[in-house]
Amino acid sequence: MIGLNDNGAPEGIEFKADLTLERLKPRLEEVWRNNEIDEAQRSEFERRLHAHWRPLFEILFRLYGSRYDFFFHIERILQTAAQAWSDRPVELRDLDRHRINEPDWFQSEKIVGGALYVDLFSDNLVKAREHVDYFQKLGLSYLHLMPLFAVRPGNNDGGYAISNYRSVDPRLGTIDDLRMLAADLRRAGISLVLDFVFNHTADDHGWARKAQAGDREYQEFYYLFPDRTVPEQYEATLREIFPTVRRGNFTWHDGMQQWVWTTFNSFQWDLNYGNPAVFRAMLEEMFFLANVGVDVLRLDAVAFIWKQMGTGCENLPEAHLLIQAFNHLARISTPSLLFKSEAIVHPDEVVKYISPQECQLSYNPTLMALLWESLATRQVGLIMQTLRHRHRLPEHTAWVNYLRCHDDIGWTFDDDDAAMIGINAYDHRQFLNQFYTGQFPGSFARGIPFQENIKTGDMRISGTMASLAGLEQAIEEDDEEKKELAIRRMILLHGVTLSIGGIPLLYLGEEWGMLNDYEFVTDPAKAGDSRWIHRPKMQWDYLEELNDHIESGNGSIRNHIFKSTQQLIALRKSLPALAGQNMELINTFNSHVLGYLRIFEGHRLIVLANFSEEVQCVEGNKLRTAGIGRFFEDVIEKKTFETSAPVELEPYQILWLKRV
Ligand code: GLC
Ligand code: GLC
Repeated sequence: MIGLNDNGAPEGIEFKADLTLERLKPRLEEVWRNNEIDEAQRSEFERRLHAHWRPLFEILFRLYGSRYDFFFHIERILQTAAQAWSDRPVELRDLDRHRINEPDWFQSEKIVGGALYVDLFSDNLVKAREHVDYFQKLGLSYLHLMPLFAVRPGNNDGGYAISNYRSVDPRLGTIDDLRMLAADLRRAGISLVLDFVFNHTADDHGWARKAQAGDREYQEFYYLFPDRTVPEQYEATLREIFPTVRRGNFTWHDGMQQWVWTTFNSFQWDLNYGNPAVFRAMLEEMFFLANVGVDVLRLDAVAFIWKQMGTGCENLPEAHLLIQAFNHLARISTPSLLFKSEAIVHPDEVVKYISPQECQLSYNPTLMALLWESLATRQVGLIMQTLRHRHRLPEHTAWVNYLRCHDDIGWTFDDDDAAMIGINAYDHRQFLNQFYTGQFPGSFARGIPFQENIKTGDMRISGTMASLAGLEQAIEEDDEEKKELAIRRMILLHGVTLSIGGIPLLYLGEEWGMLNDYEFVTDPAKAGDSRWIHRPKMQWDYLEELNDHIESGNGSIRNHIFKSTQQLIALRKSLPALAGQNMELINTFNSHVLGYLRIFEGHRLIVLANFSEEVQCVEGNKLRTAGIGRFFEDVIEKKTFETSAPVELEPYQILWLKRV
């Protein structure tokens, strides 16, 4: 038995860590010799290694210390890390040095993100390189390319069923095309974000194939069970993530005569991180991606990476330890690489992934859901109640604030937050589902259900931003007033994510008001997954409209949305108050108006956002005390407000107020 010290760490762990490193030194020497790494570069690596070794060793020991082959794996992990540094291209090493001195680069008001599917946007990577100027024109400085790796044939869950992490889907190009795009983006000042889909592989990944061929070593990469006994025991406490795909979390594999753990689709096999060989193998894949020139890895499905009988197998403490271990190794070998967590779970859990030691960035699913909630209810009570105690993050970390992404919307707010202001969470979620599927009387939204669970009555929502905000309905009804309101709603939402603190992230297509695409049902590989409704192809013809200055018809709507979005982005980038995360709510004493103050290094900006289609007033005195001044200019409309009179907001208007 190993005793634990006061910190919960195994007794004498630091001594064990140091001794282990001492014993492993010759392995490092081998890597340096074989790769002809000079003295300066070795010591750069070794300095970082020494800074991170003890905590890394402790984590690995807690996860894997009881394994008979622990020392072997530690040795391999260290070699893998040294090899990654040896393989790191010169420009990336320069970037590493630069970012070590500027660790908060992502807190800048200049950072604005976009996400896209390469095939839907530009067919392939070569053509994507031709559109770097489009990203610049829009004002993006951070680009997330949806998974573009080699995938299984047929349904591949939008790229999330990966059969090889080191090669690009041949339909999109080659790994060299990706490297060249990464270099182009870097030169254009745009950071590259790619997915690290480390919870599962496709059923035709090399490891899964070996498992299917009966190779025991690779069977241990996954969770395989000969009969239902153990799966049933797990199942007792598990959620179902894709209940319309299959009931339960396990899939029978005929060839192996085994049940396979498949949290998501049946062809996505969960990896067994209880096995240190899996950790090491994925570490190599992570370093490979980092060395292609990726600035941020989006850690996919983080909540699910550790399983333990008798628990929900989500958000377990070991999941955090695993990510921390990956993070320490990134600090050692590829230090400019950051992690963004994709934890679409309860807000109490989302925040646990966020720290400089774990994921420096995180999607903000709660803000996303509550912005839509506020649009539906025209009330800001729940969003205020939530932001009040949930927006603040540790130093050197940031939210990624988004409105739509390639996935569905789930109503991930806290039931107690809702209860505090007299909202019954269950009923409210039912209402929101009704509203966003357009069934609630008077609804402007045109979403459709995703993963409706007959057993629990639960569902999530698919649909593009424009369709959910009312544009689809307005265009269909050819109602000018409704079109105007829909566009205002979109600008309002962007106005919040661009100003509330953190990295704003557009899902490309939002900038021109992309509507739902109902064609997906004709493709058998997509028909079963309603998320394809909000993953349409880019319509480049709208750019011609932009250039032609067409002033009527739907063309002008796209123009209008593009120009307003572009203008708002440019404005954000000119306002130092919007850097960082610091945000204080302002009680506007108007239940339709969200108010907050942003302060960064002495710069201040007040934001007031009207979530209703009626004119709303806020007492000018509120501005005077929050903004410490008597006259304010709305930098969006360039209108001046005097604090002696009430501030009037137009329907769905957002004001960014700066003292003049
Ligand atoms: C993530 C992705 C989602 C995918 C799932 C399985 O949640 O965002 O699109 O279905 O992981 O990889
Ligand atoms: C679940 C998962 C999330 C994933 C989503 C895909 O909500 O928690 O990780 O993105 O399903 O729909």
